[in-house]
Amino acid sequence: MEIDTTEILISEEQISEMVVRVAGEINRDYGNKPLCVVPILTGAFIFAADLVRHLDMPVNLDFMQVSSYVGQESTGQLKIRKDLNLDVKGLDVLVVEDIIDTGRTLELLLNELRKRGANSVKICTAFDKPDRRVNNMKSDYNGFTIPDEFIVGYGLDLDGRYRNFKDVRIVKEINGGN
Ligand code: IMP
Ligand code: MG
Repeated sequence: MEIDTTEILISEEQISEMVVRVAGEINRDYGNKPLCVVPILTGAFIFAADLVRHLDMPVNLDFMQVSSYVGQESTGQLKIRKDLNLDVKGLDVLVVEDIIDTGRTLELLLNELRKRGANSVKICTAFDKPDRRVNNMKSDYNGFTIPDEFIVGYGLDLDGRYRNFKDVRIVKEINGGN
């Protein structure tokens, strides 16, 4: 099976405009309050790098790498591959995600950050696929709402590839042929 990634869903220019708009909303809401920005690796690294350069408040950046898994007798658990260096107790945290899909990862992560005593936890995502949601997770800041398609580029991958595309492309599987 071959993969076709020629269809552009969101252009580089649209992404740049989105980053400025979303950063503006965050600046307006937080004012000069210090913000702990937590990009979720690996997918959010490009969006976060663009976003933080448009934020005006004092920013403390710290990364996490997490995934969700369903154990034999559980509905879902958070697997932390890389934890924060900061203690978020009393801090205002902004989680930066690449995309919200089912919402499972985010729900577990929010619970964890609240348990650690963060003063507030908000979510900023570059892309949102609400059609696929299995819970009531919502972002506070959203770049683009997209249809139920698998996308790559601007940090998002398919089996580790295509993260470096400057724009966002739809993945199509090409069957048959020779
Ligand atoms: P969920 O919201 O817990 O289902 O997981 C979201 C994660 O799934 C994201 O952080 C991505 O790593 C991955 N993901 C979901 N949809 C896509 C997509 O369209 N392209 C690339 N990765 C995706
Ligand atoms: Mg991924």
